[in-house]
Amino acid sequence: MRTHKCGELNTQQLGETVDICGWVHRRRDHGGVIFIDLRDRAGIVQIVVDPDVADTFAVAEHVRSEYVLKVTGLVRRRPEGTVNANMHSGEIELLARHIEVLNESETPPFPVESDIEVNEELRLRYRYIDLRRTVMQEKMKVRRDVTRVLRNFLDDNEFFEIETPYLTKATPEGARDYIVPSRTHENAFFALPQSPQLYKQILMVAGMDRYYQVVRCFRDEDLRADRQPEFTQLDIETSFMTEDEIMNIMEEMIRQLFAKVIHVELDAKFPRMTYQEAISRFGIDRPDLRIPLELVDIADEMKAVDFKVFSGPANDPKGRVVAMRLPNGGDLSRKDIDDLTKFVGIYGAKGLAYIKVNDLSAGIDGLQSPIVKFASAEVWANVLAKTGAQTGDLIFFGADKADIVNEAMGALRVKLGHDLGLIQGDWKPVWIVDFPMFAWDEKTARYNAIHHPFTAPSCSVDDLVANPGAALSRAYDLVLNGTEVGGGSIRINRPAMQQTVFEILGIKEDEAREKFGFLLDALKYGAPPHGGLAFGLDRLVMLMTGSSSIRDVIAFPKTQSAACPLVNAPAVVTDEQLKELGIRLIKPAGKEKTKQD
Ligand code: AMO
Ligand code: AMP
Repeated sequence: MRTHKCGELNTQQLGETVDICGWVHRRRDHGGVIFIDLRDRAGIVQIVVDPDVADTFAVAEHVRSEYVLKVTGLVRRRPEGTVNANMHSGEIELLARHIEVLNESETPPFPVESDIEVNEELRLRYRYIDLRRTVMQEKMKVRRDVTRVLRNFLDDNEFFEIETPYLTKATPEGARDYIVPSRTHENAFFALPQSPQLYKQILMVAGMDRYYQVVRCFRDEDLRADRQPEFTQLDIETSFMTEDEIMNIMEEMIRQLFAKVIHVELDAKFPRMTYQEAISRFGIDRPDLRIPLELVDIADEMKAVDFKVFSGPANDPKGRVVAMRLPNGGDLSRKDIDDLTKFVGIYGAKGLAYIKVNDLSAGIDGLQSPIVKFASAEVWANVLAKTGAQTGDLIFFGADKADIVNEAMGALRVKLGHDLGLIQGDWKPVWIVDFPMFAWDEKTARYNAIHHPFTAPSCSVDDLVANPGAALSRAYDLVLNGTEVGGGSIRINRPAMQQTVFEILGIKEDEAREKFGFLLDALKYGAPPHGGLAFGLDRLVMLMTGSSSIRDVIAFPKTQSAACPLVNAPAVVTDEQLKELGIRLIKPAGKEKTKQD
């Protein structure tokens, strides 16, 4: 139907007659001459329609935005002064000989050609229009390039791409399951996988050595900008590799990915940081290392001060008191600080104490703050020295239960970093290692797995049982600019250790058998040492395209309430279907009672 694509035409085709197809991006009537910008996936080309080709001109007069055209024309140089250096086809134009309208279009619900802000619900309902926009086409292209480069790398390194089932059994990754009723097995349900974790481990037991899959995962959890109920992982598992070997090969893959797709050279070696250090310095296990602000513990200095807000947490083993220096922060106004106090309130902080360092050399007299009076000059001198404060700085303080301080001050650090333009460097990857195995949940009075229950501890069964709270895992997360882009671990490959972890997690033996008997069995038959990880593909593409949400890099994402406005899913099903599945709804849509009642 066509000889070329719109966006690929340039001076190479000068003098040629070509056939192109595409959408009317813009149409301008310059009294006598009509200009049409025709767009396809490759880009845009300008078409000129002269009135002397009467029938073609008549067609051009009637075309509107988003009509689909086939145009036959002559590629010629644009007149001097009309060259557009920003377009691949900017030096040429197409003089139309014939225009065929392949299809008409109603006026689109929002313009394709402009950058105006459009309500997201509308964008998703008319996703086919939204995806026509150049920015979205570019994001889809990056996504295509990303999966291609990753696949090539893994193929070159002898990984097998193997598919695992979507209709399966619950895989615990910390979210709720999406379940699918079975028609053929009464009262039974499939669960959609939260990840292919157990299948990939079983593939290692099956001798597949190195596996990968670009795979959809399903998690019913509260949504955020970087979370979708169905999202894509690049899922990887290997046998006979240590965590160092796994991290090294994955680093190489990510370096090649950035170099090939967005021409960015990442550091030759990604730094590694322990979980403990990350929490201590940044309040979070996914630190954005581009932000040059740090939390500094000052509990020792605050134990004996005359200010309960600080001395309380300073003397509480579960408390934390930190200072965070904001260089040149002395300029912040009262209102700025009030706003930041409200901001940390979102994370449960009861206040946000601060000290302005008006004159470092003047000692306590050079400090301005309502809390200066609560401690001696010596205490403040120690605090200032610890933070490295200089004249003109502002020091923020957080004091509370450690979790609250970490969350609130960690979030404040990121907010200040962005709002005050403190970001340094473009890309700061870091591996976070030495996670604890378990986190104690006060509410349920049990341990939860920090990664998943199949992650190996770095200690023996006996040590694990003796002190589960102190055990570290052989897990690693890859964090890029404050986003967790991937995570994995060395797995448990012996039944005894797996049983022990289940027990510590409060999963009784019969429950473990019922849920994971197949895994426990597989581990009995020569399970090799194995480990792997999974990258959040959507998150990687989001970062690489500079998008603010993963919804922008997924062709058909769900809304914040986990719905698809395009096809209107989820939707009610017929009584017939329900009957077949043996399901009765407690509260059927729009009805008082079900038909079955
Ligand atoms: P994890 O649960 O850490 O590990 O997931 C791996 C990566 O997937 C991405 N991710 C998400 N992306 C979008 N929306 C979501 N709801 C979402 N949840 C997770 C993140 C995350 O780092 N089976 C293990 C991996 C392993 O141990 O090999 C797992 O799924 O970028
Ligand atoms: P108050 O004596 O309650 O007026 O508090 C004095 C200062 O301490 C104010 O700037 C409060 O915002 C701050 N503040 C109160 N609670 C905390 C807290 N838990 N952490 C940090 N600062 C706090």
